[in-house]
Amino acid sequence: GDALITRMHELIRDVPDFPSPGVGFKDITPLLADAKAFAGVVEEIASRVDGPVDLVAGTEARGFILAAPVAVALGAGFVPVRKHGKLPGPTAAEEYALEYGTATVEVHPFTVPRGARVLIVDDVLATGGTAGATIRLFEHCGAQVVGLSFLVELEFLHGRDVLAGHRVESLLAVS
Ligand code: PRP
Ligand code: MG
Repeated sequence: GDALITRMHELIRDVPDFPSPGVGFKDITPLLADAKAFAGVVEEIASRVDGPVDLVAGTEARGFILAAPVAVALGAGFVPVRKHGKLPGPTAAEEYALEYGTATVEVHPFTVPRGARVLIVDDVLATGGTAGATIRLFEHCGAQVVGLSFLVELEFLHGRDVLAGHRVESLLAVS
């Protein structure tokens, strides 16, 4: 509800020029350290899900923190989406563009049954590069992405446009 959103405003710290000049960082560590707010955001993400979910996917690293408790709340399994070289394999991989260069996300496809209904959870939707690559990763595994949920959406970066055709929920929108 509104009280939770107000608490999120109070507990998410804006850090200018991190990790590089001109970038505004959303620091969620004070929110995570608040027992009531942490439980509240997990419950809110879980409550906005539409229909059954088999797997909740979290993207390394901050996505793990939220996706795992959401999976437990929904009675779903958890799938870690990892950065390149962290999973022993065999892996499925998907590349995405960064400001300079590219990055790769990977998953163990043998943990993703064909047709599995997957919810993707992360802390921040910025350009949508990470989330877009994560969608492609699960679609290549033959799974169905039934939604994406974020704590914070940076609307001015238009990441939602990259995720067109998918159900996107964000608890807090920053314009
Ligand atoms: C941050 C954030 C999202 C992503 C959003 O992760 O946690 O995953 O960026 O940006 P995008 O929409 O432009 O892709 P980051 O890659 O900084 O790594 P971390 O989660 O390991 O801190
Ligand atoms: Mg991240």
